[in-house]
Amino acid sequence: MFSDLAHYLENEFEDVQGWCIPQLWQSIEPLARAMRSDGDAGPVAEIGVYHGKFFIGLAKTMGAKAHNTAIDVFSMQEFNLDGAGKGDEAVFRNNLEQCGISEATDLIEADSMGLSDDDAAALRAKTGGFSMFSVDGCHTAEHTVNDLEFALKVIRRDGIIFIDDYNNANWPGVQEGIAKHYFGGSRRFVPVLYSCNKLLLCNLSFHDRYIETVLAHLKEHFPDTRCRDHARFGYRCLSIFSDTADGAVLSRV
Ligand SMILES: C[S@@+](CC[C@H](N)C(=O)[O-])C[C@H]1O[C@@H](n2cnc3c(N)ncnc32)[C@H](O)[C@@H]1O
Repeated sequence: MFSDLAHYLENEFEDVQGWCIPQLWQSIEPLARAMRSDGDAGPVAEIGVYHGKFFIGLAKTMGAKAHNTAIDVFSMQEFNLDGAGKGDEAVFRNNLEQCGISEATDLIEADSMGLSDDDAAALRAKTGGFSMFSVDGCHTAEHTVNDLEFALKVIRRDGIIFIDDYNNANWPGVQEGIAKHYFGGSRRFVPVLYSCNKLLLCNLSFHDRYIETVLAHLKEHFPDTRCRDHARFGYRCLSIFSDTADGAVLSRV
C-alpha cells in the first residue's frame, strides 16, 4: 500500500527542500491505513506548499490519482506576511514532475486570506473532500484561524488536519490561533496527537478509534517511541516523541 511513499521517503525526500520530519509517518501510516482500508480515500491538500516536501509525501500516502490540491501565494509574495519560506511555483512543479505526481496535482495560486466559501464548495464538488489537509502557510494567529476554518470546510468526515509549527517558539501565532479556535466554542474536529512539530486534528466521531489505532501501531512497530497520553483543550491527545535522528519511518511497505 505504501511502496510509492517509501520510495519517496528513501530517495527524493532528501533533495526536496522544506520543513518536514519524516518520523511523523510513524503516526500518519496507521491513520492512512485506516482511511484507505475501505477503498474510499480522497486526495490531499496543503496551504503553504513551498517546494512540496510534505505535500508530495502526503499525496503518496493517500495514493489519490487526481486533484491533490496545492495552495500557495507563489508569485504574490506581498501576501506572505511573515516570510517563512517563499513558495516557488517552478521549483514546486519540477519536484512534482520528478516525483511523478504532476498529473495528480492541481495548483491554486492564492492568498489563503482570500479563499471564499465558494472556493471551498467548488473544491468539495470537484474532490469529494480531502482525506488530509495541511495548514502550513503564514503563521499569524489570524492566518491560522482562517486556514483552519477553510480546511474544516473541505475535509472529509474521517480526514486529518495537520497544523504545522504548533510548538515552534519562532511562530507563537500558531498556538494562539489554535487556542482562539478551541476557546471559541465546541468543535467537530479536535486534537488527536502532536508529533514532529505538527498538531493533528480529527473528527470527534473518529477520535477514540484513531488514538487506539496509533497506540497499537507504535506498540507493535516502534516500541522505543515515547508517548504521553493526556488532554489538550479538554480532549484526549497523544504527544509522540519519535527518535528524529535515527528512528525508522515506516513499519513495512
Ligand atoms: C514554511 S513554508 C511551507 C513549508 C512546506 N509545507 C514544506 O513541506 O516544506 C510556508 C509557505 O507558505 C506560503 N504562504 C505564505 N503566506 C501565505 C498566504 N497568505 N497564503 C498562501 N500561502 C502562503 C509561502 O509562500 C511558503 O511557500
